[in-house]
Amino acid sequence: MKEFSSTVTKSILTGIQPSGVITLGNYIGAIKQMVRMQEEFKSTIFIADMHAITVPQDPNVLHENIRSLVALYIACGIDPEKNIIFIQSENEYHANISWLLECNTPFGELSRMTQFKDKSSKNVNFYAGLFTYPVLMAADILAYDVDYVPVGIDQKQHVELARNIAERFNKKFGETFKIPDVYITKEGTKIMDLVTPDKKMSKSSDNPKGVIRILDDIEDIRKKIMGATTDSECVVCFDPENKPGISNLINICVAITGQSIDQIEEMFQGKNYGEFKKYVADVVVEEISGIQKRYREIINSSELDSILDENIKIVRDIARNKFMMMKEKMGLYK
Ligand code: AMP
Ligand code: TRP
Repeated sequence: MKEFSSTVTKSILTGIQPSGVITLGNYIGAIKQMVRMQEEFKSTIFIADMHAITVPQDPNVLHENIRSLVALYIACGIDPEKNIIFIQSENEYHANISWLLECNTPFGELSRMTQFKDKSSKNVNFYAGLFTYPVLMAADILAYDVDYVPVGIDQKQHVELARNIAERFNKKFGETFKIPDVYITKEGTKIMDLVTPDKKMSKSSDNPKGVIRILDDIEDIRKKIMGATTDSECVVCFDPENKPGISNLINICVAITGQSIDQIEEMFQGKNYGEFKKYVADVVVEEISGIQKRYREIINSSELDSILDENIKIVRDIARNKFMMMKEKMGLYK
């Protein structure tokens, strides 16, 4: 079993969809928060590959992305000693539990999910999994009796549905599930596109020069920062409205080095943008080089296999117990 520090009592669980390589925006806005949370909570993190297939995927790309994402999270500071990290589809009890929950979830309630309405209206040829997706998410959560589910605001409705499903099940069949609370993760510092700094840095951007991906070539990263859009003033000062480019670079520095905005402004008083950009590039390159080095060490290593093998045993046992309990309560043969 994992040894959690004795001061850590509450538990969290979250799933991450394996959708391509992560960006500097994901790292600063989301992963760094998770790294902080692992000090406070017993934390379980899984790659939600079964959620990913609710929309069409290229099997080869998906397969690569799953392992790569586990390695990247570890390389970014998610500590396998402090977190249970696993791959959703390796624990078949999620799907088993999901079916039992589906048979206890009103069709009408699922029809009201805004993410389903959005996605199904964009492509009329959608599959049933897109509709039942929130029940699988409820299974992910309820299998583990966790205290909190940290998610972005777009997933809040799904966690509320999980709570409703759990409450109804408990009432009908007797106490079975802990009712988890949703924990809305505040958006961390929003990192903007380097070329068009009025837009968020996004995986799906069509101009790669504006987006830093964590596995980009180090020299390309440097070039992208040196080529970032700024303004004609030549004063390093934080003013997101009038100087979005420079302010974005300051935010990146603050997030990585822990310096304050004032400290950075002071450091570059009277200096030109070239010098400032070089500093930002050095800081980012140093951080990302460390991540890439760790990534390369583990991506094909047996260390990664052992972490996954050890964790899947732990979570399969927990989810299997929950499944057996549900079966019994529902009167299925056992
Ligand atoms: P996405 O890449 O949109 O699936 O987002 C995954 C997580 O990364 C979410 O928690 C986002 O809030 C966060 N995130 C994505 N892009 C950025 C960005 N440019 N700046 C800060 N956080 C981001
Ligand atoms: N649906 C979530 C998303 O798209 C991912 C997810 C799947 C999840 N299962 C979960 C998040 C359980 C929290 C808990 O981001």
